[in-house]
Amino acid sequence: MVERYSAGARFYDVLSGELFVYRSGRIAGIAALGLSRGDIVLDLGCGTGLNFPLLLDAVGHTGLVIGIDRSPSMLRVAAARVARRGWANVRFIEADLMTVDVASIASIAAAERGRPMVDAAFASYSLSVVDDRVPVWLRIRQSLRPGGRVGIVDMALPTGAAAVFAPLARLACAAGGADLSAAPWRELERTGTELAHTVHRGGHIHAVTGTLA
Ligand SMILES: C[S@@+](CC[C@H](N)C(=O)[O-])C[C@H]1O[C@@H](n2cnc3c(N)ncnc32)[C@H](O)[C@@H]1O
Repeated sequence: MVERYSAGARFYDVLSGELFVYRSGRIAGIAALGLSRGDIVLDLGCGTGLNFPLLLDAVGHTGLVIGIDRSPSMLRVAAARVARRGWANVRFIEADLMTVDVASIASIAAAERGRPMVDAAFASYSLSVVDDRVPVWLRIRQSLRPGGRVGIVDMALPTGAAAVFAPLARLACAAGGADLSAAPWRELERTGTELAHTVHRGGHIHAVTGTLA
């Protein structure tokens, strides 16, 4: 649903529940990713670039963030953030994650840092929106160096005492087109090693990281 995010791009940061709910997931996921200075990291479905400050803190000025999103409006907000903050090491690819040409990722990485493969791929609150994750995983594997790191932060229905917030979570996710039953981290848990899985905000947010051979 490109249109869904196009219409709301300008208001996404304030309306998305970032401060009280979703920020906790991106902080946990990026911390557990274990990025190093100089790393090249993909931000899959980067949206307005809310991950960029944390990713750039981790990879430093010698690293590189490549944000991929299919929504031109979300990318415009992300590009404005990059310009405002004066970040020189963020690049964008406007493409669908299911069909993005891995050669375009490799050519940016090679041109900017002299090597075609990336060190890590991170996706927050985006894979639950994607219709078919199989081609996305294929592209992650094709772009990632052997031993590269993957982080998936995404949503599920809250559990336990927090289950009272389930209708609210359903409403928020329906507005964004997210599938709360998708558990898009399962493929990483099935095939990755060095896994870590933390749960936040009453089970609503899962942050899963691991290494792909
Ligand atoms: C809920 S927003 C999350 C944005 C950002 N990752 C964050 O943590 O704030 C979902 C983003 O995924 C993007 N998206 C959804 N499906 C996509 C697809 N198939 N290909 C590329 N981007 C997609 C949307 O355009 C939107 O920017």
